[in-house]
Amino acid sequence: MTSPKDTKRRSQSWFGHEGKSGFLYRSWLKNQGYPSDLFDGRPVIGICNTWSELTPCNGHFRELAEYVKRGIYEAGGFPLEFPVMSLGETQMRPTAMLFRNLASMDVEESIRANPIDGVVLLMGCDKTTPSLMMGAASCDLPTIGVSGGPMLTGRWRGQKIGSGTGVWKMSEMVRAGEMSQDDFVEAESCMHRSKGGSCMTMGTASTMANMVEALGMSLPENAAIPAVDSRRYRLAQLSGRRIVQMVHEDLRMSKIMTRNAFENAICANAAIGGSTNAVIHLLAMAGRLGVPLTLQDWDDLGSKLPCLVNLQPSGEHLMEDYYYAGGLPAVLREISAHLHLGALTVNGKTLGENVASAPCWNRDVIMTTSEPFKPEAGIAVLRGNLAPDGAVIKPSAASTHLLQHRGRAVVFENIEDLNARIDDDALDIDEHCVMVLKNCGPRGYPGMAEVGNMPLPPKLLKRGITDMVRISDGRMSGTAYGTVVLHTSPEAAAGGPLALVQNGDMIELDVAGRRIHLDVTDEELARRRALWKAPEVPKRGWYKLYVDHVQQANLGADLDILVGGSGSEVPRDSH
Ligand code: FES
Repeated sequence: MTSPKDTKRRSQSWFGHEGKSGFLYRSWLKNQGYPSDLFDGRPVIGICNTWSELTPCNGHFRELAEYVKRGIYEAGGFPLEFPVMSLGETQMRPTAMLFRNLASMDVEESIRANPIDGVVLLMGCDKTTPSLMMGAASCDLPTIGVSGGPMLTGRWRGQKIGSGTGVWKMSEMVRAGEMSQDDFVEAESCMHRSKGGSCMTMGTASTMANMVEALGMSLPENAAIPAVDSRRYRLAQLSGRRIVQMVHEDLRMSKIMTRNAFENAICANAAIGGSTNAVIHLLAMAGRLGVPLTLQDWDDLGSKLPCLVNLQPSGEHLMEDYYYAGGLPAVLREISAHLHLGALTVNGKTLGENVASAPCWNRDVIMTTSEPFKPEAGIAVLRGNLAPDGAVIKPSAASTHLLQHRGRAVVFENIEDLNARIDDDALDIDEHCVMVLKNCGPRGYPGMAEVGNMPLPPKLLKRGITDMVRISDGRMSGTAYGTVVLHTSPEAAAGGPLALVQNGDMIELDVAGRRIHLDVTDEELARRRALWKAPEVPKRGWYKLYVDHVQQANLGADLDILVGGSGSEVPRDSH
């Protein structure tokens, strides 16, 4: 099917000219063998690809893009694939999160500057999802998300081993003397065994793929189909077909990603036991669209919901099991009483229509609201004199006996200080202490690294201690677990109260009361503040731009100059 010529279409501002400039726009593209009729006004679809050999989770994206193209051609569109900055979570230093906003700028400007009427976002590894969603949202064209899907289940000596979660567990076993270094290295080859695919635990990548689907921004089942399953490629092809229709319908992101859609996503995050990182990414995405969403919404809307999904890091299964059990549609059907079922999705149907008859095939993986995996599972938002603008904790990943706790602070000034002293048997620490890590926030690291789940001291591990209260202004991998208070705002490097904590101070954590308190008088804190010196800031380049403009975690850690959008207005001609 070919579409009638539409001179109002955005791409026709490039290809529809008869004179010199039309020649220039068309002729150079024709060097790739495109026939003239592809420029006749049919929808031009940009395929925004985050393939990179340095982002192994997205290693199959060139092939995935070919299936998207098939679908676009079938529906009468003209696909044009383009690369954007790809953020490989495991490789990038100091942290991939430092570059989320930079990649989003690449996405936004690449879309707006080019002859594109609609966009397919190929997303997988952790930060590739929010960066593409944020950048595309600031353009607000018809857009559909296609995730790369999770890797196959990791298997080692008959056991399932999950991305990240297995690493944290086994590395602590090595440090406790319970696992040999040789076995540790052998497990390394057994954990990630499919070419392409994101971490197969309910880590940040899987969480964000679920968020994309819960927001209505992908076809149903997008979140969980394994990367190497043929159905992943079928979904890519169907998404290619659908984006062409979305351009005809002018179905833009802002019509789908409404406040109701974000509320649905928050509820879904609780029900899947999703990552704390989703809090920051969804706040930033909402900010791009002008949707009012606050940190407190996470607690108000999601914290009382049960977790239904028995997946690592909170449970035992992995993403393959989740897909075979029914995936997100089965979860959403189960919590449908909490959802805005009338929210529109990219397939033109409502969320309610999409999940109304979604089956569940395995109640050991996806449980029911009447018999949930964990009764209260969302994100709890803590406040107090240690976190005036908030901090978060994921109670479902924490130890019940530590959710109410008072302990002596053991302070690490930064990650180097932690690494230098944590293995020292002379470190003055016991299991009742509260570990405090400073200068890991957006400005302090910079980039807000995933170091909040500090390793425990070996001398305590050897005594069988597996969890302690830990507090930082950093983040935690979605694959990690523990009684870990994160995203403390304002951060230490911005002069937040966390900067003033000293060894020996008493800290109180009361998750039920949503309180985090530093038991030091206001007078003493004022005295310490007068002595506090702000850390040096970077002098040039992206680091400087980032530190000068990044907002705190409670606002989504987007740059202040990137909040909102500039739409899809066609820029002035260059010829
Ligand atoms: Fe890429 Fe986990 S490292 S998804």
